[in-house]
Amino acid sequence: MEISVQHPLIKYGAIGIAAILLIILAVTPLVTAVVEGWSRRDVEVRSRLLFRSIEDRVVNAIGSGDASSITPLFERVAGDDRLVALGFCDKAGTMRYATKQMPPNLKCGGLPPGNGVAFTTFRGPQGRLLVSAFPISAGATEGRVLLLHDMHFIDARTRQARTYVILALLGLAAGLGLLAAAIVQGLTRSWQRSMKTHIEEARLGQSLVASRGDTSGSSFDREIQSLLSELNAERHYTEGIKVEWSPTTLRTLLEEELPGTQVMVVSNREPYIHNRSNGEIELQIPASGLVAAVEPVMRACGGTWIAHGSGSADQDTVDAHDHVSVPPNAPAYTLRRVWLTDDEQDGYYYGFANEGLWPLCHIAFIRPVFRESDWHQYVAVNQRFADAVVQEATQDDPIILVQDYHFALLPRMVREKLPRATIVTFWHIPWPNSETFGICPWREEIIDGLLGSTILGFHTQFHCNNFLEAADRFMESRIDRERASVTLSGMETLVRPYPISIEWPPAALETQAPVEACRIAVRQRNNLPPDAFLIVGIERFDYTKGILDRMRAVDDLLTREPSWKGRLVFIQAAAPTRSRLEQYSDLQAEGVALADEINARHGDGTYRPILLNVRHHAPEEVYELFRAADVCIVSSLHDGMNLVAKEFIASRDDEQGVLVLSSFAGASRELSEALIVNPYDTAAMASALHRALLMPKHEQRERMRLMRELIRERNVYRWAATMLMDASRLRKRERIRDSRLEFAR
Ligand code: F6P
Repeated sequence: MEISVQHPLIKYGAIGIAAILLIILAVTPLVTAVVEGWSRRDVEVRSRLLFRSIEDRVVNAIGSGDASSITPLFERVAGDDRLVALGFCDKAGTMRYATKQMPPNLKCGGLPPGNGVAFTTFRGPQGRLLVSAFPISAGATEGRVLLLHDMHFIDARTRQARTYVILALLGLAAGLGLLAAAIVQGLTRSWQRSMKTHIEEARLGQSLVASRGDTSGSSFDREIQSLLSELNAERHYTEGIKVEWSPTTLRTLLEEELPGTQVMVVSNREPYIHNRSNGEIELQIPASGLVAAVEPVMRACGGTWIAHGSGSADQDTVDAHDHVSVPPNAPAYTLRRVWLTDDEQDGYYYGFANEGLWPLCHIAFIRPVFRESDWHQYVAVNQRFADAVVQEATQDDPIILVQDYHFALLPRMVREKLPRATIVTFWHIPWPNSETFGICPWREEIIDGLLGSTILGFHTQFHCNNFLEAADRFMESRIDRERASVTLSGMETLVRPYPISIEWPPAALETQAPVEACRIAVRQRNNLPPDAFLIVGIERFDYTKGILDRMRAVDDLLTREPSWKGRLVFIQAAAPTRSRLEQYSDLQAEGVALADEINARHGDGTYRPILLNVRHHAPEEVYELFRAADVCIVSSLHDGMNLVAKEFIASRDDEQGVLVLSSFAGASRELSEALIVNPYDTAAMASALHRALLMPKHEQRERMRLMRELIRERNVYRWAATMLMDASRLRKRERIRDSRLEFAR
């Protein structure tokens, strides 16, 4: 520790020492005067006593006038302790008799005048002397008998007294200093304890509440509380920026912050689907943003993932507990499959989730359908999954990561069975404004179900605000906007934005050939000229993705800029999804028809500007397409985040390629170096494609670098870590509360 003069210990120590010196300087002359006064009086008394004891003999001797008897008498008396000399001054001022030690320079005339006893000091060769003059009358002779006492011992005594006093003062100062230090240390410890409590509370996010509502405690306490709440708010935004989030750091976080805690994920879509095809079991990784994000997290953390077993060979690959270890080639966690009947799937998945909630939450102008029978299935299936969670729980306080709109009721159902569980629910799709949400006949039940969560996450602050507004409007709840929480029946749910992301580096990139090889391979496979410009779009064939809108933009571009004809191809990889629903089968048919129409308009026998591949694409195939492309287009009409946009950026380690991105996808808030478009504006989207195709390489590189840096930093491990850190803080806060309650009891 570097100690500067500013250090309070040095400052206050120096002040203390100066004060003690001043006191010593002030006290020592006083001590000298007092001790000298006492000693002198002592000598005076002694002198008087001595004189009285010899007075008669001296008077007789002087009265006799016999010098031969006077001088020996004087010499005998002068043998007395501390008596240096004896003498007699007659009335005329002459030293008539004196012992040998009488200082020659002591003159009778120098004595104090008067007729009484007098005392004076005199400096002789022996040092300081006290001269006592006693008047006598011996017959005809009158004069003064002088007794000269040594005062040397007084100096010694004064010095000694001074030393004792100084030592006593120093001792006192040291004692007081120690006492003060002990008191200060005691106070500091109690302040430290108090600060520690405040810091701990602030870490857990309590101080905002405390600083607003709690007026108890000292003003010092309140100041600390409000200071910490400010720091806490700041920290919430900066935390994690410096951490390189990876599977290892995420695992370390779990080990340190949540040691021994069981982690469970619940989602409808399973991360690995086993299908039977031609008698063989095939493994499929579904086209799902949710799976792309959560699977790497589970690989890092381990635990149990509970999901619907939807594959045709799923039942054949589980054990007696419906468990299967995944990933199959390097097991890291357990997949627990839940089986649903066709009726359950129709009502819960296709019906309420995808015909009701999906169009309700996405602005795509598809009317939501709410059927009571679907609702009942939705409630029943949520209960089935909640029961599976309780069954899989090996602790009474696991962390349960609930995924998406399929399980709005599950958090409350689990909370009832596992009240101490930490339930973090993430809503992967947008949350509409309360006017729109209000059309749902079961709006209160849905909000109530979600408020069984400890934390409820959305991709953006905007969607958090929409949820808070809905809770405010439809529930008898308390909304704390500053803290971003909703309290219902005494239970608080934090509502926070956690922008989802992808793993970095993506696993699918490991097996990829260099970009140039991918470009050649994709062009060859699709019978395109080696120098053909390639635009790609890759996603589920969903009406929210704006697939038809981007086809129209390509059509528009080819119409306005016919020079692109023959040179430009748009490959759309579209995974069939929810095809049992009319909106989806209609969309697919419409898409195929539109592609044919555009191809007929701009193509010829060999050239087809739009290649629409409606089938499932494995991650490796998707990444190869990304790497082969000049432009990737994501033109969602409405999207919570859209991870395709992030995957395209991640796939381009050559720092080339341009992303054209819808302003209505959550990803556009982060990827501002993309060319941002309005998918409803066909001409503008066509211009953006034109600009993207012509963008100079150096500009592509600059934009790519910035976006890659952002995704590298804000990867999915950071997403999970932020939620888990918040969950861990809340758990600690609850533990502190529990122990306080226990203590109070
Ligand atoms: O966008 C929400 C979401 O749950 C994604 O996370 C996922 O990609 C998709 O919907 C799931 O689709 P499916 O109905 O095929 O599981």
